[in-house]
Amino acid sequence: MDFSVADLSLAGAGREQISLAEHEMPGLMAMRERYGATKPLAGARIAGSLHMTVQTAVLIETLVDLGADVRWASCNIFSTQDEAAAAVVVGRGGTVDAPAGVPVFAWKGETLAEYWDCAEQILVWPGGEDPNMILDDGGDATLLLHLGVEYEKAGAVPSPDSTDNAELKELLRVLGRSFEADQQRWTRIAGAIKGVTEETTTGVLRLYERFREGSLQFPAINVNDAVTKSKFDNKYGCRHSLIDGINRATDVLIGGKVAVICGYGDVGKGCADSLRGQGARVIVTEIDPICALQAAMDGYQVARLDSVIESADIIVTATGNKDVITAEQIGRMKHQAILGNIGHFDNEIDMAGLAATPGVTRTNVKPQVDRWTLPNGHDVIVLSEGRLLNLGNATGHPSFVMSNSFTNQVLAQIELFTRTADYPVGVYTLPKHLDEEVARLHLDALGVELTELTAAQADYLGVAVEGPYKSDHYRY
Ligand code: NAI
Repeated sequence: MDFSVADLSLAGAGREQISLAEHEMPGLMAMRERYGATKPLAGARIAGSLHMTVQTAVLIETLVDLGADVRWASCNIFSTQDEAAAAVVVGRGGTVDAPAGVPVFAWKGETLAEYWDCAEQILVWPGGEDPNMILDDGGDATLLLHLGVEYEKAGAVPSPDSTDNAELKELLRVLGRSFEADQQRWTRIAGAIKGVTEETTTGVLRLYERFREGSLQFPAINVNDAVTKSKFDNKYGCRHSLIDGINRATDVLIGGKVAVICGYGDVGKGCADSLRGQGARVIVTEIDPICALQAAMDGYQVARLDSVIESADIIVTATGNKDVITAEQIGRMKHQAILGNIGHFDNEIDMAGLAATPGVTRTNVKPQVDRWTLPNGHDVIVLSEGRLLNLGNATGHPSFVMSNSFTNQVLAQIELFTRTADYPVGVYTLPKHLDEEVARLHLDALGVELTELTAAQADYLGVAVEGPYKSDHYRY
């Protein structure tokens, strides 16, 4: 088996953590119980690109139990938990000397070059087989494949020297090398793919864009917009993992500090709540009047970044947008202020602009924590180089909330793999009854007593006793 992880000897520690996580992931355990015998994913060859954490290990082993062959990479250079990666490679029946699990290509602290090499590894399978499913988070595996197809159609790959973008440079390097080896590789692989299931807001945005411009190569399920994903993982997950990241990185007391959250969508709502819970005075920035009004009615001051940047102790971006904090704005931050991002990509904070500012210096405090000294003598503590800090500085969301997200992923993989003909190229969400089912699978663990509709009540509301209970446009 080919694989690339930091240290296989961490597998034992990883296995212990996985077994703790399994207890907290009732949705995934129910998937194993329900589908373990019938193996609806038999024949599926899944290329997975999603943070290689302990929770993801439980997802991967669930996909395997349902019959799938899997290869995995992380979707971020800092988010891998090396012990989880090692445990997945060693597998449940293997040993460090004879690994028998799943090929994983991920370690904490990859370079950008290594990152795109790993992405290629999950899409190019050994033995002449091609993957037929993608499970993506943020859309990088989908991007690699689509750019490959585009350049094969054009008959050439642009030179990496044609761009200043460090990430794109490495992607073009991989595609150029691949083109030299096989000029039809990506077209052939794209033709074999039955579909992609996408985990996050940013990846979903890219899929809808591709579909609109007519370049989407295969159907996609938007897992993010399952209610039991975005209204839980994005919100309650970030409520947990944002402060986990800040605490592990800085151990600064949050109570009494002024904290600014940029963006009051699902992620921003969870972040603002967690900082308020710690006693911070939270200020929100927004561009959308509806979300700005929500923040105000939730009791937060809503301000422009320029009005508050000089007094903020902690600033976190949660927008999925780019250039939300400029280098010039960083230059006006308070001495020892903390700056981080929890959105998917590192372009929310202008890190390149900061690095290029004359007179700034960077001192590494510890992994994923840097002190940037500005020309005015102020220090700004930047977390995870502007990449998502909850996964870079901590271990991401806890198992229980990820069980909801990943149960949606499993259902979406089964749906696209077993009912391919029902999904012409397009972007779909899972049907409401499956969303309700995911929630239902998590109630017992929390001791929830659900009230049952009477037949007369169901009739009065115009729904079935067993659901679905809401229309598709209900907002929760
Ligand atoms: P969302 O669309 O619900 O919220 C984003 C909010 O930012 C919107 O309300 C938008 O109006 C606002 N916004 C956009 N540009 C802005 C600007 N310049 N200034 C202030 N506000 C601005 O998206 P969601 O689901 O909250 O996701 C946000 C990002 O977080 C995405 O990149 C998503 O992929 C990522 N994400 C990260 C997770 C993590 O664990 N780190 C978990 C889930 C999502």
